[in-house]
Amino acid sequence: MPKSILIDCDAGIDDAQALFLALSSPEVNVVAITIVQGNVLPKQVAVNVLRILRVAERLDIPVYVGSEKSILGNERRHDVEPYHGWDGLGDSPDPEPVDESLINPESASAAIVRICNEFRGSLTLVCLGPLTNVATAIRLDPSLGQTIQQCVIMGGNYYGRGNSTVCSEFNFSCDPEAARIVLTQLGGPITVVGMEVCRDNAVAWGDYDSLRKTPSKINDFLKRIEKKPFEKIRTNQIEWSRYTPFDEFAMAVVVDESAIVKESKEVFATVEVKGEYTYGMMVVDWSKILKRSNNVKIITKVDNKEFLKMLYRPVNWK
Ligand code: BDR
Ligand code: CA
Repeated sequence: MPKSILIDCDAGIDDAQALFLALSSPEVNVVAITIVQGNVLPKQVAVNVLRILRVAERLDIPVYVGSEKSILGNERRHDVEPYHGWDGLGDSPDPEPVDESLINPESASAAIVRICNEFRGSLTLVCLGPLTNVATAIRLDPSLGQTIQQCVIMGGNYYGRGNSTVCSEFNFSCDPEAARIVLTQLGGPITVVGMEVCRDNAVAWGDYDSLRKTPSKINDFLKRIEKKPFEKIRTNQIEWSRYTPFDEFAMAVVVDESAIVKESKEVFATVEVKGEYTYGMMVVDWSKILKRSNNVKIITKVDNKEFLKMLYRPVNWK
């Protein structure tokens, strides 16, 4: 029986890669996609998700949109070009616009609560963006954690080195209070795929070039959306020494944890929401100083050969 999953994302190029991996994997069944603010504003993320679903021929999957604001009601700056391009998918529009009437009117957080309850105990929540929708869902239904099988999060960092601010990872830094609520109040099993494990297992550019060599519908789409940011990376305008599809690492863990994960640690972790330099940083009590019960499992080592194999699934699928 495939595992039912609900994906909350802010697509995003690596969100697109992760969605294609899920859609091409028989181990999982994507029951819904909820849209969160993050790489770009939610309305644009929704358009991006519809573009991705169109390529995968899965426009039957329902899409729900969340708030433009953080859980505290803050608006984020969107006047600086995001790494993923102004439209979040490398500024390479499709010739045909998507049908936006496919977007469901129910709000993302209400949909999360409803669907988790419908699947009582058997749904995996996969979070690939800031945690605003999930934190809001916890506010709507404080027992949310008991209605899911597990929640897998791409986000946070555990060596204190950031990719968004000095000390914080992008998804957590977009909405630190939401990340803190999810980690400390979800009350269900949480797996964290943090920034470092993705960076440590990033793919060599030679392997990336081989991956994108085969012409296929998905490869052609990915090559097109990756072009602009990857040119910047490979000409050293952005510091990123290898191909690092963060969200796809998290999805690989969801698809086949036993093949991908080599080491994980059960710990207590929270998120700093007061620090001058550390706002949004994941704080891990490695030494058990706080004597708090473990609330997350952090993936610390993955099998990068198995991961590389998995990257071929979508491109061999369509
Ligand atoms: C995360 O930040 C976003 O830009 C990516 O989509 C990924 O979810 C990595 O820090
Ligand atoms: Ca993302």
